[in-house]
Amino acid sequence: MLPDLRLFADLSSIPLFPTAASRQAEQVDLLYFFISFVCIVMTVLIFALIIYFAYRYRRQANPKPTQIEGSTRLEVAWTVLPFLIMLIMFAWGAQIYFAAQEPPLNAMEIFVTGKQWMWKVQYPNGGREINELHVPTGQPVKLTMASEDVIHSFSIPAFRIRHDVMPGHYNNLSFTASKPGRYRIFCTEYCGNQHASMGGWITVMTPQDYMTWAAGGSAQGTLAEVGQTLFQQHGCASCHLLDQQGRCPNLRGLYRKPVQLNDGTTVIADEAYLRESILEPNNRIAASFQSDIMPNFKGQLTEEEVIQLIAYIKSLSPSTPSSQQGSQQLPVVIAPITGSLPGNPQGK
Ligand code: CUA
Repeated sequence: MLPDLRLFADLSSIPLFPTAASRQAEQVDLLYFFISFVCIVMTVLIFALIIYFAYRYRRQANPKPTQIEGSTRLEVAWTVLPFLIMLIMFAWGAQIYFAAQEPPLNAMEIFVTGKQWMWKVQYPNGGREINELHVPTGQPVKLTMASEDVIHSFSIPAFRIRHDVMPGHYNNLSFTASKPGRYRIFCTEYCGNQHASMGGWITVMTPQDYMTWAAGGSAQGTLAEVGQTLFQQHGCASCHLLDQQGRCPNLRGLYRKPVQLNDGTTVIADEAYLRESILEPNNRIAASFQSDIMPNFKGQLTEEEVIQLIAYIKSLSPSTPSSQQGSQQLPVVIAPITGSLPGNPQGK
């Protein structure tokens, strides 16, 4: 009944639309065309009927207006059918939306911190960039995003992804890049007077090129190693003993495990809980531990440092399928902050 929407879904041939450079982009475009198709059909149908009825029941032809009592079958049909079509849009859209929040477990993890007015990027192996992001094709990528100050919104139109980055939260996005090239990153939430210039570039490379590019080396070590240094510097190690029970919970093997709290509830020790427990530890204290032992680190640590500490805590859980340990993963990036590609020197 419907024409094959895929015929219309190659947006790159229409100059109004950005290139589709991720797997998600194809799905979003397909949905977009379905919605546009439904809208066009409905608009044409409604206007055609208006014109037809205006002619058919014009005054000349019906000097005495006919009384019409209505038709239950017709009314049910024009209520239920559009409702079902709307539900298809809703379910389809929700499925794409939730898929973007729930990355596969083998996803490569990249951390993005929004700050007036730049995007700071950290890779698990310690590489860092500003307003530049490098990813290989075909590899699912999970972005964990935080804001240092106000609400920003991370957007890559060529990937058809966007998510607000709220201060005080981690926000996730995932995507799989499919087409090598350089694509724009934007901030799409007004965040102060330099908002318009808050953006950058994402470079998508073939896996081979990516490995060459990543074969640099980070001076400070991996993200987890940098986090370990912070862990020592801030005195965390004196209470969080790693191989025996100290005054504070043992962190080894903690990541993604359920934690019993002293109010009887249970939480999963995910990134959000770890972040909260670093910045405001007394909010949710693990059962059998006292509150007010650990100081609040809110205001003492930047979001980037919190990410490093969490990377260290994750590295204490060797079975974790995170990017630091995955064996079937590409080696993750180590790069200097200048991120231009060989053969693509124009930068921004
Ligand atoms: Cu950040 Cu707009």
